[in-house]
Amino acid sequence: MVSVDKIVALAKRRGFVYPGSDLYGGIGGFWDYGPNGVEFANNIKRLWWQAMVHDREDIVGLDAAIIMNPKVWEASGHVSSFTDPLTECKVCHQRLRADQPDEIAAHVDKHKKEGQKSVAWTEARQFNLLFRTFVGPVEDSSSLAYLRGETCQGIYVNFLNVVSSMRVKIPFGIAQIGKAFRNEVTPGKYLFRVREFEQMELEFFVHPREAAERFIYWKEERMQWHLSLGLSKDHLRFRQHESTERAHYAADSWDIEYDYPEWGWKELEGIANRTDYDLKTHGKWSGKDLSYTDPTTRETFVPYVIEPSVGVSRLFLALLIDAYTEEEKRTYLRLKPSLAPVKAAVFPLVANKPQLTEKARSIYGLLKKHFVVAWDDRGNIGKRYLAQDEIGTPWCITVDYDTLKDDTVTVRDRDTTKQERVSVDRLKEYIEAKLL
Ligand code: GAP
Repeated sequence: MVSVDKIVALAKRRGFVYPGSDLYGGIGGFWDYGPNGVEFANNIKRLWWQAMVHDREDIVGLDAAIIMNPKVWEASGHVSSFTDPLTECKVCHQRLRADQPDEIAAHVDKHKKEGQKSVAWTEARQFNLLFRTFVGPVEDSSSLAYLRGETCQGIYVNFLNVVSSMRVKIPFGIAQIGKAFRNEVTPGKYLFRVREFEQMELEFFVHPREAAERFIYWKEERMQWHLSLGLSKDHLRFRQHESTERAHYAADSWDIEYDYPEWGWKELEGIANRTDYDLKTHGKWSGKDLSYTDPTTRETFVPYVIEPSVGVSRLFLALLIDAYTEEEKRTYLRLKPSLAPVKAAVFPLVANKPQLTEKARSIYGLLKKHFVVAWDDRGNIGKRYLAQDEIGTPWCITVDYDTLKDDTVTVRDRDTTKQERVSVDRLKEYIEAKLL
């Protein structure tokens, strides 16, 4: 498997990911997505939205505000207990998470190599991960607010709005994609643990007696979706949470884990049976009745929630790792074409022939109306291919002298490097047919 360092280098070199505030030396736990990264992330989100909302009749979408009434976070328990145990190394005063034995061990090893015989730690104390801000011109406790630590709370507080404004009937779900913020004690592992990230979350509301069955359904459904993106079966697995690591409100909790190089199996997506905890708690704190009455049976109950939740950056990284392919003479990203940031690149064979450039520009303009297409006329064709390979562009289209005679172009396939002649008027269908 590729090393993470190679992925970091390629992602920077090819405009996928830059360190946040790079010009000023960066800022821990924040990353910026470059021109190819934003297209790639948008494709991931689009495919999630399509699978979770557009392809289904029982899920609707939502986009709640990032800043919510602070009572939301008091009710949810985040203000009092959205914490990680923080401990400080007494040798160098670096702070680490006490519940991450691999990181503690690596730190101890580092000091031992420096000649330190033993390393002592301060007693762990709980550190709250919510970022704080103030709403309005006065900064005091009455204006205190939080950046959301998870997107799903915006769904719970809109449960009644959605039930009363949409023709939904339990079982149904509300899906949302949006930013979440966590003041992680030790951000790191590149895009794996960051302080600002996007979550793709579904809250699926069910009758309590159907929760266990729906939970199994969503576990399988989510695994199949990851496989459909092209992630290798060998790099994915399920892991059930021990009762000691499960949130107190969850009846069952599983992770879909990805086998990251160097770090091993880590959580990619969490799937939890959150019971009726969230709706009951918000009902209690808001004084509103969040129970649901079935229109057919007239039975009234507080729904249970099944929640699959995945972070865009963790999936982004897993997909880059799985797609990274090195051959003797080139490196390329074997991305599923629908995920690739650029679908096709158009080149004139040589740059200084106006007839070729003009024809290539017209093909570029034609395709650009339908797909994300790149233009490149710098350097030789071989170098242009290599650059597109590293971005994962599935097809490179070259306009040459034959094009001027018979209106056909060369289409080079990223994975096989084989070339075929395709007539210009068939190019759009050619790409569409292969755009899986
Ligand atoms: N609403 C449930 C929830 O937020 P979580 O396990 O804390 O549960 C869900 O987060 C997903 O969000 C994780 O599986 C992971 O993909 C992503 N995630 C969580 N913290 C993250 C972080 N600091 N950086 C990147 N992704 C993160």
